[in-house]
Amino acid sequence: MTQELTSPSPAPQAAGPDGARGWWRDAVIYQVYVRSFADSDGDGIGDLRGVRDRLPHLKELGVDAVWLTPFYASPQADGGYDVADYRAVDPLFGTLADAGDLIRTAHDLGLRVIVDVVPNHTSDRHPWFQDPELARQRYVFRPGKGAHGELPPNDWESVFGGPAWTRTDRGDWYLHLFAPEQPDLDWERPEVHEEFAAILRFWLELGVDGFRVDVAHGMIKAPGLPDIGHGEQARLIGSQVLPFFDQDGVHAIHRTWRRLLDEHTGSSGREVIGVAEAWAPSVERLALYVRPDELHQAFNFQFLNTPWEVAALREVIDSSLAATVAVGAPTTWVLSNHDVVRHTTRLGGLARARAATLLMLALPGSAYLYQGEELGLPEVVDLPAEARQDPAFFRGRLGVDGSEAVGASGTSGQDGFRDGCRVPLPWSGELPPYGFGPGGSWLPQPVDWGRLSVAAQTGDPASTLELYRSALALRRRLPGLGDGEMAWQPAPAGVLALRRPGMLCAVNTLDRDVEVPVPGELLLASAPVAADGGSAVLPGDSCTWWAI
Ligand code: GLC
Repeated sequence: MTQELTSPSPAPQAAGPDGARGWWRDAVIYQVYVRSFADSDGDGIGDLRGVRDRLPHLKELGVDAVWLTPFYASPQADGGYDVADYRAVDPLFGTLADAGDLIRTAHDLGLRVIVDVVPNHTSDRHPWFQDPELARQRYVFRPGKGAHGELPPNDWESVFGGPAWTRTDRGDWYLHLFAPEQPDLDWERPEVHEEFAAILRFWLELGVDGFRVDVAHGMIKAPGLPDIGHGEQARLIGSQVLPFFDQDGVHAIHRTWRRLLDEHTGSSGREVIGVAEAWAPSVERLALYVRPDELHQAFNFQFLNTPWEVAALREVIDSSLAATVAVGAPTTWVLSNHDVVRHTTRLGGLARARAATLLMLALPGSAYLYQGEELGLPEVVDLPAEARQDPAFFRGRLGVDGSEAVGASGTSGQDGFRDGCRVPLPWSGELPPYGFGPGGSWLPQPVDWGRLSVAAQTGDPASTLELYRSALALRRRLPGLGDGEMAWQPAPAGVLALRRPGMLCAVNTLDRDVEVPVPGELLLASAPVAADGGSAVLPGDSCTWWAI
């Protein structure tokens, strides 16, 4: 049974020179987690010069753009997602001049640059929060409940665990959906809107090509801040509309930002974009963020969370495409980022990860890669507790009343596994820090990562790095990949077969070989394929691309 899916999008212009409209509709965008990418000064923490110096790796890999995680002035309570000054570079990462230099070097290489913007909350060290009067105007402060205001204003929990409220020494409470060092801004206040518009313009003038909008589903809270009525709220994120997430009011903000981005596109001739990090309960609600007058892209976390199973994959691909086609946007696929278990580990092994990546890159739309996935890095699951840094690791152990919880069942919040996907990259050599920098690395790297380094994998046709390079080169070469049409093809049980113009992608999700008639000329395979006469053997947990 075949099902035709047609994207109504205009054909994208050739990728490459600035000015190409719609470049993002099929772009492959590489996420750089700055503190773990490359360290230029030996303090063990990656920085902007480190990124700049390694940009040739990304050019060679074949991506179109780079997304840089926050490098702004920050006390680093949450890896820089606690911003104290949105217009300054943290000395840990370099200077504003380094940022400009990085952007220019990237542009010279033909790479676009997207930066993070964090509008839901600031750092508690932000000047607005440091001033008690200003803070009460621009953040979410409420009196407590109970006879003496000793109880939090409502029952909301922090995404990282524990209560979402902290009491000040003045006796009132402020809201923080994440760590207490990340107070939520009050987006009912016009000054907040004005400030963020100015911040966006500041970075646009510095030459960035777009923004990844952190917690784009936050910002607006349900009127009256109603109780939820039960605990374990973090587990509902992405499956339910909550009074603090995915409120309809956030869309007005995204519409304003889209106008601002479009104005800049009009005046500069460079098409600048916004990508939403939005944890929405369904692909249909997620698609609302990419309506024509809102942001350009939204990460498809439903796809990321799908198990390695034919029916589930097919369902999420169909529903994602249908939901985004309905609003005229492409789908934005992603398998890994700095907040989730790396897909090599999450899916149960490198074979599946390689296959999942080839599947993702064959789907219509755009895709995000997370640094290190091109090396097949696994999640580091045995980091010692004393090395851990993620606030979700520490707060994840808190009960809903803020006390230290006993045992997993009493905990709230994210599991706090995020350090394991943030271990600095191995570039070369046999010993840590594997060329990450002249010093050490802020999280310890496994002793066997020498074999996974960029240098070790370069030139080895069986390596994951060369698989990614080949896939991205083919994606550029084959007009049928990227944005456009897709149709399912009949396939044996356990196999997904999808056709793009001129090519076919076959995924064997089973753990054993499946024999199929040879569909055409083999273009790329995540595992060795044996073809004999008219039939080919698709190895277990593999993906193959065929020219037809
Ligand atoms: C986003 C970021 C995550 C951060 C959180 C709070 O989810 O990806 O790393 O902790 O927002 O800013």
